[in-house]
Amino acid sequence: MHQLEISDLITAVDPRSGLRLPVRRAEVIEQLQASGDGRAAGIVAGLPADQDGVLDPDAVDRLLISVHTELQRLSEELRIGERLVHVLGPLLAAVRATTRQSGPYCLVDVGCGLGCLVRWLAATNALGADVELIGVDLDASLVGEAERLAHAEGLNCRFIHGNAFDMPKAATVYVSTGVLHHFRGAALTEFFKAQATSPAQAFCHFDIAATRLAPIGAWIYHRARMRHPLGRHDGVVSARRAHSDETLLRAADVPGIRPLLYEPRGTVNPFCTTLRPVIGVRPPLEEPLRRALGRAARRLVGPEYLVEAAR
Ligand SMILES: C[S@@+](CC[C@H](N)C(=O)[O-])C[C@H]1O[C@@H](n2cnc3c(N)ncnc32)[C@H](O)[C@@H]1O
Repeated sequence: MHQLEISDLITAVDPRSGLRLPVRRAEVIEQLQASGDGRAAGIVAGLPADQDGVLDPDAVDRLLISVHTELQRLSEELRIGERLVHVLGPLLAAVRATTRQSGPYCLVDVGCGLGCLVRWLAATNALGADVELIGVDLDASLVGEAERLAHAEGLNCRFIHGNAFDMPKAATVYVSTGVLHHFRGAALTEFFKAQATSPAQAFCHFDIAATRLAPIGAWIYHRARMRHPLGRHDGVVSARRAHSDETLLRAADVPGIRPLLYEPRGTVNPFCTTLRPVIGVRPPLEEPLRRALGRAARRLVGPEYLVEAAR
């Protein structure tokens, strides 16, 4: 089955206080073995722990930062920033055209990790000066490193440690990359509902397209570009856990939101599609979004596409 990502298991945070919780190495190994993933159990067995068997939190942080740094390089090679702006640019144009609010608009990257998307957007000013850029993550060490890098690069963006749906300031648009597959079943619907019940105008979440090529593509890429076995392992498991178009469109179909999928399976070349977004907009935004996308709007489908595709 091999459905567990090691990085999800080796850190734990109290959801209320945000404080780090101890993680026992033997328990993680047991969980991975029970899922039939002896290789992952072997990787965790090699991580340092104290005399009580609790994983060394500093070593875990260093490891996750180095894996995310390699992931950032992969995102740069796959030109993920440009792909995002291709959709986010028109989405913000639609927000500007539709809302009475004149800005600044607030873009929140949910689960920003090292903040490579937010930092890239700040460095390129690709969305315009009226868009405030904020990255949020539950992992304090990743957020700390994102903040350090943004400061070193002299960028105009902010990073916050915490739950993205528990911020004092409301987002205009929620975005994310590589986060959706971490939410399964009811938690995925809750993820979208949290945004629908907020004052946000839209969301746009990019994750691995669940094509037949995704697991083998991820294996080749991570084998070639990632050094640590944890990064290689989790990269392939993420591709296997990628949600189908159907799952995303159904889960994002929550009250007050028009769910849309860009580049659904069957309309695009699977060799080119690595990440594709599920988008949710307040209903009056759909037409301005289609206008702003121009010819590319043909690649934007709603849940009715599933009915047509099933015929
Ligand atoms: C696989 S990482 C993705 C990192 C980054 N987006 C990237 O592409 O490199 C998923 C991250 O989501 C974070 N996360 C999950 N739910 C969150 C929430 N509700 N608020 C903030 N961060 C969250 C986790 O802490 C984790 O660091």
